[in-house]
Amino acid sequence: MIDLDGIAGIRDGIVPPAIYSDPELYQLELENVFGRSWLFLAHDSQLPKPGSFVQTYMAEDPVLVVRQRDGSVKAFLNQCRHRGMRICRADAGTAKTFTCSYHGWAYDLGGDLINVPAEDAGYHGEIDKARWSAHKVPRIANHKGFYFGCWSESTPEFADYLGDMAFYFDAVVDRWDGGLELVPGTSRWVIDCNWKFASEQFASDMYHAPIAHASAMLALTEDPAFQVFPPYEAPGRQFAGDGHGSGGNWLPVFPIPEPTFGPVYTEWLAANKEEVFRRIGAERAHKVWAHNTIFPNFSWLGQAATMRVWHPRGPGQIEVWAWTFVPRDAPDEVKDAIRQGNQRTFSPAGVFETDDGENWSEIQRVLRGWKARSVPFNVQMGLGHEERDVHGLPGKTNHVYAETAARGFYQRWSDLVRGLSWERIRELDERREAEEVRPA
Ligand code: FES
Ligand SMILES: [Fe+2]
Repeated sequence: MIDLDGIAGIRDGIVPPAIYSDPELYQLELENVFGRSWLFLAHDSQLPKPGSFVQTYMAEDPVLVVRQRDGSVKAFLNQCRHRGMRICRADAGTAKTFTCSYHGWAYDLGGDLINVPAEDAGYHGEIDKARWSAHKVPRIANHKGFYFGCWSESTPEFADYLGDMAFYFDAVVDRWDGGLELVPGTSRWVIDCNWKFASEQFASDMYHAPIAHASAMLALTEDPAFQVFPPYEAPGRQFAGDGHGSGGNWLPVFPIPEPTFGPVYTEWLAANKEEVFRRIGAERAHKVWAHNTIFPNFSWLGQAATMRVWHPRGPGQIEVWAWTFVPRDAPDEVKDAIRQGNQRTFSPAGVFETDDGENWSEIQRVLRGWKARSVPFNVQMGLGHEERDVHGLPGKTNHVYAETAARGFYQRWSDLVRGLSWERIRELDERREAEEVRPA
């Protein structure tokens, strides 16, 4: 396995490539990173009534997320306590109970074991069903209809974990009086790359956009204003929430060329902008609408109306689960325009999405090389040019063409994968903030 001390100072922006390919490190990630972080589970709109459920994953662990009769949401490991079969094999639906298809143990909506076949004949009435419930996700947080789960009792509360990221997250999810909804159905696809390439890119990387997406921009519009997009001299900022595990990206809104979402959407947006301004302020509405990652693997892209989880599947593969988000109260033709715009740009066959996946999977192929795995990467753009609480933006930011959020992402990852306690991480964060290089 790679030398863990070697990744302690990763925030200097020198990244050993073995972190993307080492199988033993990956097992540590599952336990120390994903096992101690808040992970996205589901959105309110996916669980409309009591008994509504979705099956998802917390990293590689399958979980069922279920609306309870009292309206609350619970989640438990989708693993039968008898021999470990997946309790529920449906992706989503409505249930009164969940019955295992192997020998028939049945669980209620909260995951408690309620029926065992042959309880008298086979178990002689001696099985204590209360002891054999499905394993519950002990902590669930609801942030504006977005449910996150955490296995660890020592991880900070979700609001604390989110920190300054709440300002940026809410600018996307809290724009509308009626809230958001996810368009029914999940787009899923597999990319042969390490999960950190995708998470980091959505946290931090505007740098690839004018190059990697140049042909897609040309396909969308012949307007020369979009041929280097966003312009390198753009006044955008990038946010790096290194406090409690978020990374992000921020830039002033750039008008996306009309063909992306079309006039139905653009006109509706113009007619309803006062609602957004009232909720989150005009400046924030215009400026905070780009891509972000809530550490470790929940990302979104405002302009393209996509949210997704990068489920890790071994060190060299991810399963992308993506949703289109729409304002819940928008008319159907507007929701449809957004859905179609998202399909054209950031769906499995979207013109931008395929650019990203191609780069990530090609990097992963290069990393098959023994020598290629030993040559460190440069993640240093903008190092030492960070600022705090400037331009009305909370937290640490930098020019949008920077890798500050990437360094925050890797530092948080390094702290967690090395097994540092959250108390120790908090101490280190305070010290790092005090030692931060500040431009004169
Ligand atoms: S594995 Fe589920 S009932 Fe046997
Ligand atoms: Fe991209």
